[in-house]
Order: sequence, then structure tokens, then C-alpha cells
Amino acid sequence: KKILVLNGPNINMLGVREKNIYGQQDYAALCEYIGQEAAALNVEVEVRQSNFEGELVTLIQQAYGKFDGIVINPAALTHYSVALLDAIKAVALPTIEVHLSNIHSREEFRHRSVTAAACLGQICGLGFQGYALALRALAEKG
Ligand code: DQA
Repeated sequence: KKILVLNGPNINMLGVREKNIYGQQDYAALCEYIGQEAAALNVEVEVRQSNFEGELVTLIQQAYGKFDGIVINPAALTHYSVALLDAIKAVALPTIEVHLSNIHSREEFRHRSVTAAACLGQICGLGFQGYALALRALAEKG
């Protein structure tokens, strides 16, 4: 199986940004973790990050016919991007939304996800482990 892992705006700032919320580990460490977990699950992964909504839309579109599933942390776009919602719906690939932090224990504006409605499910609050669990769910799916 081939899984696309997409990270949205500011996820590349892990290890620098709000460490009390997102932890000490940097983005390279997240990529390495995802690579190791994928290898253990025997799935192929491509990990991409973009600060641009349109680029994320394009990456989702390009996943059509090329990947078997998507793990996405849309970051701030989670809370308002109808374009990402529509892109996930358009390709109709099994998609799991991941958030490092527990968005429900934070500011009210983070409680709502616009994008989760197009996803199989959502995992939040478990840090890096959320990505591993999402990969596992996709690996075990049909
Ligand atoms: C996040 C949560 C979002 O609210 C925030 O804008 C992010 C990261 C998370 O992984 O916890 O950038 O998606």
C-alpha cells in the first residue's frame, strides 16, 4: 500500500513553535518517526509539508490513482478550508485527519474541523503517535 502523509502550515516549525503544546521534537524527527512506523507496517509512505492551501489541494488531487490513502494534518486550515474539504471529497481516497494536540481542549475556534467531514476519522491529542495509528488504520483497511 502507498500512503500520502500531508502536513499543513507551520508543521515544519515543530521543535520551535509552542513547545508546551507541540513538544520538543522537530519536523525532521516527525518525518523519521513516520518513516519507521510505515516500514514496520510494510506500507510505502511519501511525507509532504506545505504552508500553502493551494499546494495542499494540488497534492491531494495528484494522489488520485497514485496512493491508496491519505493521512493529513491540515493544521490551521482544518478550521476553515472548504477547498481542502472538497479536494478530499473529490479524490475519495480513505483519509484520516491527525492533530498533534487535543484541539478540543484548546481555543474554541480549534474545536471545529471543516475537513474531518470528508475523512474516515480523526485522531487528535496523541502527538506523533496519532500518525502511526492513522497509518495502521489505513494499512489494515481492506
Ligand atoms: C494542529 C492544530 C491546529 O489547530 C493548529 O493550527 C496547528 C496544528 C495540531 O496538529 O495539533 O497548526 O493541527
